[in-house]
Amino acid sequence: GQYTASQRKNVRILLVGDAGVGKTSLILSLVSEEYPEEVPPRAEEITIPANVTPEQVPTNIVDFSSVEQSDDALAVEINKAHVVCIVYAVDDDDSLDRITSHWLPLVRSTCNSNSSSTDGEPDVARKPIVLVGNKIDLIEYSTIDSVLAIMEDYPEIESCVECSAKTLHNISEMFYYAQKAVLHPTSPLYIMEEQN
Ligand code: GTP
Ligand code: MG
Repeated sequence: GQYTASQRKNVRILLVGDAGVGKTSLILSLVSEEYPEEVPPRAEEITIPANVTPEQVPTNIVDFSSVEQSDDALAVEINKAHVVCIVYAVDDDDSLDRITSHWLPLVRSTCNSNSSSTDGEPDVARKPIVLVGNKIDLIEYSTIDSVLAIMEDYPEIESCVECSAKTLHNISEMFYYAQKAVLHPTSPLYIMEEQN
């Protein structure tokens, strides 16, 4: 069945993306409201109580580390998440290219592989995605044009944001966009197969 905002009791946000783009730093910056100079490979799972989230819904934030976790563990986390933030570093073109060559196809295939449905539903449920360009403190241009082009091909991308774990620029916004993608999706999350 299809969830509506009023049925959702919590929001589970997963951060993925290439090594070194700043996933762990983003999470720890949000929690401590300051930039951590040293971070572990993977942040502990964090639960933000409802009363301090903009949408008043308890929110879990989950980090991913390719050093500490296997591909199978990643697939489990992608399926458990309500929204996936794909993080790239704005100063690293390879990490931006990998959004389309690796991360978006991976999230799609992971979600499809267990919806070979026996319940007769015609639609493919796609996981909402937020694209996050971190380290905006390092450059003087914007990557948003490239990102808007990607969004045209992947309707499951709900929003995009450029931010910096270092200066805290757009950090709370990033997590708000992720919550909003789950609670108030703007694009259809249930896409008829023939629209592929
Ligand atoms: P893995 O755990 O290896 O997958 O990497 P990660 O995505 O968790 O990145 P991490 O948070 O470990 O950050 C990688 C490096 O980028 C660290 O040296 C951080 O200090 C640095 N970094 C993270 N965010 C920012 C940022 O907003 N600006 C700048 N200038 N550096 C950053
Ligand atoms: Mg990390």
